[in-house]
Amino acid sequence: MNPKRTPVAAGNWKMHLTQHEARELALGLHEADSVRILLFPSFTLLATVSQALENSSIEIGGQDLHPAAQGAHTGDTSGAQLRDAGCRWVLVGHSERRHHHGETDDLLVKKIQAAVRDGLKVVYCLGETAEEREVDQTLQVLDRQLLSALPYLPEDSILAYEPVWAIGTGLTATPELAEKVHAWLRNRLGEKTSPERAEATSILYGGSVKPENAASLLTMDNIDGFLVGGASLDSGKFCGIIGACADSSE
Ligand code: PGA
Repeated sequence: MNPKRTPVAAGNWKMHLTQHEARELALGLHEADSVRILLFPSFTLLATVSQALENSSIEIGGQDLHPAAQGAHTGDTSGAQLRDAGCRWVLVGHSERRHHHGETDDLLVKKIQAAVRDGLKVVYCLGETAEEREVDQTLQVLDRQLLSALPYLPEDSILAYEPVWAIGTGLTATPELAEKVHAWLRNRLGEKTSPERAEATSILYGGSVKPENAASLLTMDNIDGFLVGGASLDSGKFCGIIGACADSSE
């Protein structure tokens, strides 16, 4: 990674953990001055984790939000409710939302607008499926996902490249393959906004990141940290990934 950017270790806890487990896991994490740590617990755990991390620099975020400010939306959560529970961030465009919940580019724009309205920063996820990669559609898909969201994404947003075939499968993109996409994304961001913004934006890699592969991914210029699912549920493994991020910034 480029030393001009602060490395980010983000844990996406998905639909895991009870209150007690979440509190223990959050309290067991070792902060590192040079690493920005973000956690994305389930809605029911947000207040507990936020309280546990009251005196810590670790920031928390929601895994999703509804575009509306409030209203009759059974099962949904608003940006204002996320803020109230201690969130500063929200994930938008995770492939499990795109593919399991049919979230479209248009809906994701509305979610980004809601996050901005409600004072939440965005981690915007994008990535191709195995089928799309096989037929050489990777860059086309990423371009569509990036350009549909870009006019609405504030400058302090983070991008997370997560090839769908690597999420939860144990198959990690090689550092070279991930770097090719990250460099392309940064270049595209520069063309569509400004070179300064492209240089300043953190682009995370996600998909079966573990302590064993974190350091080699971070040797790449355009990989600025990780969005971690499975390994973020184990404090030893997540601390190993945070440590790799800290080492990369030295
Ligand atoms: P994984 O998930 O690390 O378990 O592959 C990553 C993600 O979905 O953000």
